[in-house]
Amino acid sequence: DYCLKGVRHLSDAGITRLPGRYVLPALDRPGRSIGAAAGGSPARVKLPVVDLARLRVPTERAAVLSTLYTACRDYGFFQVVNHGVDSEAIAGMLDVAARFFELPFPERARHMSPDVRAPVRYGTSFNQANDAVLCWRDFLKLSCAPTLRDVVPSWPDSPADLREVAASYAEANRRVFVDVVEAALEALGIGDGEDGVMEELATAGSQMMTVNCYPACPQPELTLGMPPHSDYGFLTLVLQDDVEGLQVMHGGEWLTVDPVPGSFVVNVGDHFEIYSNGRYKSVLHRVRVNSTRPRISVASFHSVGVERVVGPAAELIGEERGGEQRRYMDTDFATFLAYLASAEGKHKNFLQ
Ligand code: SIN
Ligand code: FE2
Repeated sequence: DYCLKGVRHLSDAGITRLPGRYVLPALDRPGRSIGAAAGGSPARVKLPVVDLARLRVPTERAAVLSTLYTACRDYGFFQVVNHGVDSEAIAGMLDVAARFFELPFPERARHMSPDVRAPVRYGTSFNQANDAVLCWRDFLKLSCAPTLRDVVPSWPDSPADLREVAASYAEANRRVFVDVVEAALEALGIGDGEDGVMEELATAGSQMMTVNCYPACPQPELTLGMPPHSDYGFLTLVLQDDVEGLQVMHGGEWLTVDPVPGSFVVNVGDHFEIYSNGRYKSVLHRVRVNSTRPRISVASFHSVGVERVVGPAAELIGEERGGEQRRYMDTDFATFLAYLASAEGKHKNFLQ
């Protein structure tokens, strides 16, 4: 099946029409979705900015926490700046990602695997087993857990510098995650947490890195790079190059996120929505493609370990807190996998 070779392959072959397998039903096409005028250019959004440097200034911390809280509640998305990851590490990650997708197809294909738990997985589309229509996206998923030392030896050895560059990027990304999730918990009024969640997130959580490649597409108005979905874990940190494409559902409209070079776009995942008892929102988002500029992004998914049952934080529910209603049932990884395999599960992806 030629489509299983991925979209980079199609784009390199110079196709001028979108193959039928990628054509979305009329109502799902990006130009005709909720709120966006047919053929009109979508609304742009500057996401709320969370400045990690200001977070470290004692007199400014409260103001930053308040921005963070509002962003997680109203958008489920924000941008993180002054995060301390140096610009070379960021440029290097985007660069090695681009070079990976330039490798000859057989070299990339060595990493194909149907096993969603494989530490390295190359593939195409979104949730291939479930996608009725294919997405205009190829990906490389690199698991970073339980520790980088365990998994890096199974990552691709070509390009020759991929392991080193991606591992140090993953480590730096994790430090940013830890700072942000700690602040987001503090903003909820949950300190260290009786249940050890913060401790687990910081030391023994799950981390998955997905490198996405969206080649130029001959008919971008008919397809998507990723369909509307929400993320599974606590927080996702997205690094994107300077090509726009990510769209966020807000107020019934798809808003296009303005890429801010060097920043991370961060979004709340399902686990954090549940843990916050619904104060924070895991919001639908999708990716549009375009006809001229290929786009690369690197999404880092962070959550608790797969063994943990996730439910609303004890500090937020129950009598001692004035009786906030529990809004979510506890959930575990097995439930999630079953959901993923179900018809509704098409809006989910395994840690992406
Ligand atoms: C991207 O902006 O390409 C990543 C979006 C996602 O991971 O949902
Ligand atoms: Fe996502």
